[in-house]
Formats: sequence, structure tokens, C-alpha cells
Amino acid sequence: MKITSDFLVVGSGIAGLCYALTVAKRGQVALITKRDISTTATRLAQGGIAAVSKADDSFDQHIKDTMEAGAWLPDHEIVRMVVENGPKAIEDLIKWGVNFSRKEDQSYDLTREGGHSQRRIYHSKDETGKEIERALVEAVQAHPNITIYENHVAVDLITEAKVTRRRLKPDRCLGVYVLNRELGQVGTFEAPITVLATGGAGKVYLYTCNPDIATGDGIAMAYRAGATIANMEFMQFHPTTLYHPHAKSFLISEAVRGEGAILRRSDGTAFMENYHPLKDLAPRDIVARAIDHEMKVHGDDCAFLDITHMDSEFIKDRFPHIHETCLSYGIDMTKEPIPVVPAAHYLCGGIKVDSWGETDIDNLFAIGEVSCSGLHGANRLASNSLLEGIVFAQRAAEKSLELASKPIPPCPTIDLWDSGSAKNSDEEVVVAHNWDEIRLCMWNYVGIVRSNKRLTRALRRIQLVQEEITDYYWDFLITPDLIELRNIATVAELIIRCALRRKESRGLHYNIDHLEKDDIHWNQYTLIRKTF
Ligand code: SIN
Repeated sequence: MKITSDFLVVGSGIAGLCYALTVAKRGQVALITKRDISTTATRLAQGGIAAVSKADDSFDQHIKDTMEAGAWLPDHEIVRMVVENGPKAIEDLIKWGVNFSRKEDQSYDLTREGGHSQRRIYHSKDETGKEIERALVEAVQAHPNITIYENHVAVDLITEAKVTRRRLKPDRCLGVYVLNRELGQVGTFEAPITVLATGGAGKVYLYTCNPDIATGDGIAMAYRAGATIANMEFMQFHPTTLYHPHAKSFLISEAVRGEGAILRRSDGTAFMENYHPLKDLAPRDIVARAIDHEMKVHGDDCAFLDITHMDSEFIKDRFPHIHETCLSYGIDMTKEPIPVVPAAHYLCGGIKVDSWGETDIDNLFAIGEVSCSGLHGANRLASNSLLEGIVFAQRAAEKSLELASKPIPPCPTIDLWDSGSAKNSDEEVVVAHNWDEIRLCMWNYVGIVRSNKRLTRALRRIQLVQEEITDYYWDFLITPDLIELRNIATVAELIIRCALRRKESRGLHYNIDHLEKDDIHWNQYTLIRKTF
């Protein structure tokens, strides 16, 4: 099967959908997504989207908060550009039909989260992502120029160098090989411009609040194709996911702390004042490490998030989804503290892009969590990611339309996917076993607190698993599970290699063998690229 379009979008979260809607006015868009269109990390976002709007707030304050949370590694110019585009991003979302929560006087109800010096977060109760995804999906589904391919799993990028078997610098992206989950067949999606909006990679870790689709596919594909990858050591652990044997890492939004909740030990002692002047609203890396430390020192299985001092009607109205979900596990947050633990949440590194979302492979863009744009540095400020998604989607769309208006060199003939002599696997257990091994290894050795020894050990293990996956990959017909396994193994290796390289502790990367921040040698990105 071969599908041709003007623009090819991989992924259906905020970035992919906004991009598709913006370029669709000038061409045909093929939008592929691994499962159904709404199974995305965007849909699970609770907190909101940050943008300056109050008279007593300013772009400079939002920029400073972003730089400070990012441990001064963010790119100042990128931060300024994104922050200054914030009000327009909100306006566009409202135009696309997103309903943000309002106060009684009909002004928008702005909330606060860790690291923000102001209330500047637009939200839809505690399900902001669900509301954004709903509005954008409706707009995309109604658009005559956008064709949606659900249950289509991207396998690999098709580049000119690969097709022509020549060394090219820069290489050019021609499209993507894609597995149709229902038919079990790999087809060719060809387009002059390809956009990766595949999201993050929380599934690399045993505990994560990411959806099952977050397997780092875009990063792994771009790395295999020769794109530069940056800052993979900066995996953000969200401090508060529900600790319950039957809850699959359900997020308890930072906005709960933004509205006054306090973290306590099992004996009721509040502890964040020992770690940061902003106490419970300190940046996320500090709160996650504080919880980890308290649990280890006091032998507790979890920490407790206490908002019981607030009015119960306010809690139920402001956090209906969290309240109901906790109740379904037998926890009434209006009367008792919520047991919480940290879990992998957001990858600040990714495919290195410029201020237009362009990668170093021609005609290949990366937007949203899959990319490393320079906005987050060593730690993302809460609610800056939906903002990044829409701002970069619109800039990438603008650049794509400019590219599309110029003559594009002809595309060489692309070979159809060849499965060679691969046969159906008779040992699916190998995939399941390797998957578990990677996630456990990453959690134990490459988690919130790292050491040289643990990182080296982790690299050895992951490389062994990778050898096994490579053999398996070429011997057997590919399946969605095998594609994802290969990708999480690649992403795990990239995280470890970047973490081993950074000889300091900064933001989310905390190594007990290099405890200090080293601005002289390490105030720079960790870059990694495949050698051919
Ligand atoms: C949250 O609601 O705590 C998550 C928001 C974010 O990660 O930006």
C-alpha cells in the first residue's frame, strides 16, 4: 500500500492536531496515529496551559520562572518567543472551541502550579487536556483536507540516503513506513514534508503516568535516521501520582498543591519547608527528590498529599475528576490525605530542533514532547508543555507552507517494505520479558537519584537486551509490540548515554558522584547522533 499526501503528520496530540489544522488550508494532510485519535498524552493532561494575561503578571516573570525551573539551561530566546506567543495560543484554542474554566464574573479562572510566581494557568477544571483534545479532534475530523489513519504504527522514517544508498549531508525525509495494526501490513506513506508529533517516552520506566503509547517512537526513528538528539538525561518525574495497588499511576495534578495542598510524611509532618523557600510549590525536580528522600530516610512507602483543610465543596468543584477517581479507590480527598509517589512524566530532551521545529534532516519537523526545542532546559516548568505544543505546531506549519510554496526536488522511487524471510514469532514471551527488564532496569538504575556505577550497569544491561531485540527484529514479522520494544530500548540507551556524559547535577539529572552544578563545563546541551 502506498499513500501520498502534501503533509504527513505522525501523532494526534495537541501539536500534531494544531499543525494539521494549520497546514490543511493549503494541501492534503495524512495524519497517522497508533491507536484511536484521542489516545494521547495531551488527553491526560490535568493542570493546564500557562500564558501571561493578568495586569500584575509579565512576560519577564514567566520567562524567569521558566529559566529558573529549567536550572538556567533553557535557551533564553526560545523561552521568550514561546512565552510571548502564549496569549495568542490561548486565543487560538478558544477559537477552535476549547472551553476554559471561568469564575462567576466570567473572567478566566487562572490557577497556579510549582515554580510559577503567578496564577497564570488556564485550565478546564482538572481535565484540561481532555477538553483541548476534544475540541481539536472535532475540528480535524470535520476538515475535508485531513485524512486520519487510526491504528497505524510508524515503523521507520524513509530518507533519501536510505532509498538511494548514498551518504547525504543533510539527508532528506521522504515519508514513513507504517504498520497497519488491523491488516498486519507495512505500507509506504510518502510526503514532501513529514512532522513527528509522537509525544514522550514515559513507558521506558516501570512507573509512569503516561499512556501506554508513550514509547519514544519519534525519537527512536529520528535517531536511527541520523537526526541529532539532545538532553535525554532530563526525564521529569511527577512528584504526585496516586499510590494504590490497583491505580495505574493516576496523576494527582500539581494544581492541587497550587490550590493549597501540603505534602506530609506518614506521621503527618509537613516536610517541603526543609527543601525550598516555595515549599510545596517548589519546582518539580526538587519536590520529587524531596519525596524520594523522605521515603528512603523514614522507610515510608509513599508520601501524603493533604488538602483536607480546604472547603469540601471547593475541592469537589475544582477537582471533580481527581476526587471521583480517588473515591473509586476508597480515598475521600476531602477528608483524608491522598497517598502519592513520584512517577516518570515528561521527557525534556528529544529530537533537537530549531526555533521553527526543523530537525537537521531536511523536510523533517519535530514538535511537542518528541522534540528538544530549548524551552525546558534541565526541567520543564509545569503547564509549559501544552503551550510549547501549540506554539511550535504553528511555527512549523508556517515554515512548512513556505517550503511547500517552493519547488521541491523530485522524490526517488521508494522501495516497498520488504519482510524478507521473516516469519511469525512463536515466542512472544521474549518481547514481554525484554520490555519488563528495560523498564525495571531504568527505574532502579536511571531514576530520580543516579550514580556512575548504576548508570554503567544499566548501559551494559540495555545493550545486551538490544542485541537480543535486533536478532529478534530481523527474524520475525514485526508487530506493534516489537516496534515499541525496539523503540524503548533505543530511548533507554540514549537516556543512559546522555546521563553518563553529564558530569554534574542539574535540574532533573541528579548524580551522587557529581553533586554540584558545573556552569563552567556543563551549561550546554548533551548532543547525541548515530554514526553510520
Ligand atoms: C499536572 O497537572 O500536575 C501536570 C501538569 C504538567 O505536567 O504540566
